[in-house]
Amino acid sequence: MVGDDHHQIVVHGFLFWVSMGFLIPIGILTIRLSKREERGRRVRIMFFIHATTQVLAVILVTAGAILSLKNFSNAFNNTHRRIGVALYGLVFLQALSGLLRPTREAKRRSAWFFAHWVLGTTVFVMGIINVYTGLQAYQRRTSRSIKPWVVFFTAEIVCIGFLYLFQEKWEYIQKQGVVRGNEPTTTIQPTDNQEILTKQNKDLC
Ligand code: HEM
Ligand code: HEM
Repeated sequence: MVGDDHHQIVVHGFLFWVSMGFLIPIGILTIRLSKREERGRRVRIMFFIHATTQVLAVILVTAGAILSLKNFSNAFNNTHRRIGVALYGLVFLQALSGLLRPTREAKRRSAWFFAHWVLGTTVFVMGIINVYTGLQAYQRRTSRSIKPWVVFFTAEIVCIGFLYLFQEKWEYIQKQGVVRGNEPTTTIQPTDNQEILTKQNKDLC
């Protein structure tokens, strides 16, 4: 393998590790945090982080896709290449779906959320799988050891997996030890004040 080829593969690996192996998972963890937040400002910050990390990831994927289509074989004859090229398409579709989301009050919002969640989670899982198959392709092509990278990536994914599962359980953990009926209550005041309603609607993403 010539030095130039090696350089291309390292750039390719780096771009996809950062985008699909890091930014997309972080963006998903962040938007999942907003589910527990009632206050508008925090929800907006989580939304902003989700949208920014995902759009940044798509920019890096675009750069990586252009480079790989220009410099690699375009043969798509192994698992890594096939999953990879499918992911290029799915990531764009997903970002487009995020940008074209209906408002929270719209009837279509539930269907949109379901589609965005299914496709987003697919991209998330397939992206992680393809970083592993990419590392194997790197070993095949260069005969260099990938063990440290596999260990490092696995450690990162274990942390992300733990946080993902922990998010589901955090509210339940907090409720432990609270006697039923003694939970702190909040009083919700209905309002027809237009100013408050407009502000509330602005808080939603
Ligand atoms: C989710 C992330 C990734 C995606 C979507 C992806 C996508 C692709 C695609 C579509 C190709 C075929 C390009 C062509 O032939 O025109 C390819 C090739 C390749 N990728 Fe990735 N890649 C990813 C991550 C990685 C990583 C982390 C590495 C590690 C260095 C890597 C190493 C390689 C290598 C060595 C090839 C050359 C083809 C081969 O020998 O099979 N990829 N990748
Ligand atoms: C490749 C890019 C993207 C991926 C992989 C992705 C993935 C996801 C996933 C998996 C969820 C559901 C999280 C959960 O509850 O488990 C989600 C929620 C959401 N995403 Fe994205 N997303 C992407 C891009 C975007 C963009 C660009 C926007 C907007 C500009 C966006 C807006 C939202 C919103 C508003 C929600 C929360 C929906 C709700 O709770 O009603 N997403 N995203």
